[in-house]
Amino acid sequence: MELVVVTGAARGIGAGIVHRLLQDEVRVLAIDMDESVQQSLNSSPTRGELITAVADVTDRSSIDTIAAEVRAEGVHLKGIVNNAGRTSTAALLEESPETFESVLHTNVTGAFHVMSAFLPWMLEQHSGSIVSISSVTALTGTFRRAAYSSSKAALLALTRSVATDYGAEGIRANSICPGAVDTDMLRHHLKNLPDDQRLAALDIVERRQLTPGLAEVDDVAAVAAFLLSDAAAFVNGAAWTVDGGWTAFNDLRPELR
Ligand SMILES: NC(=O)c1ccc[n+]([C@@H]2O[C@H](COP(=O)([O-])OP(=O)(O)OC[C@H]3O[C@@H](n4cnc5c(N)ncnc54)[C@H](O)[C@@H]3O)[C@@H](O)[C@H]2O)c1
Repeated sequence: MELVVVTGAARGIGAGIVHRLLQDEVRVLAIDMDESVQQSLNSSPTRGELITAVADVTDRSSIDTIAAEVRAEGVHLKGIVNNAGRTSTAALLEESPETFESVLHTNVTGAFHVMSAFLPWMLEQHSGSIVSISSVTALTGTFRRAAYSSSKAALLALTRSVATDYGAEGIRANSICPGAVDTDMLRHHLKNLPDDQRLAALDIVERRQLTPGLAEVDDVAAVAAFLLSDAAAFVNGAAWTVDGGWTAFNDLRPELR
């Protein structure tokens, strides 16, 4: 069975991607810093095979150790999904230097460590697909996301640079830019807002999209599975929005004006 590595896999979009991949005959290595990763992913029987590892993507030596261990098993590494991420909702002057650096460290340096650990294996095979979960905030201004949007733009650029530097050697690297996805990260953000702001935030989600509502994790997982697959053999260095049209227009839907 071919192997796909998914980070930040214990819940939300990462868990959705793991479940989607396990529908096929593939081995998935699900990495998360949350110790419940094994327990939270073990559900219904699947065609694929799940292995899990508890590790923080910012800890290079842990990631290197995991990569060396699975590589010793001699399987083919089909793909990597850089999904582990954290958010912060602050404008520049509200953001602490510690949080700013932590967001960059998790979202960018973490992906750097994971790709650095696994890319040599892909290069030896002359094949491999990398998918990074960026965000629409990498593409367009979003209020109070100074650190988060900076990190997601950097992740997009880092992923594109991998496509640029290693594309000729059989590596594909693409990003997905989701809009608002119904996960703990979004729910936590909404929960911390005062009531009027929470309703306003949900209203804005409706108004700024062409397709109403929140995306489900499966909407992102389906695109990740496609980008990992041979069906996307000629897709490289791209950023795929999964945002209900958020970044496609700058008007309000007429019935909501
Ligand atoms: N939910 C959204 O609306 C949305 C929109 C755009 C992009 N994204 C991105 O999608 C990804 C997943 O988001 P989500 O909403 O599922 O988040 P989530 O908070 O529900 O889950 C994130 C997972 O990543 C893990 N994680 C965080 N830091 C880690 C680290 N340093 N090492 C290992 N694991 C770590 C957490 O333990 C958790 O299991 C993130 O990169 C996020 O920025 C989310």
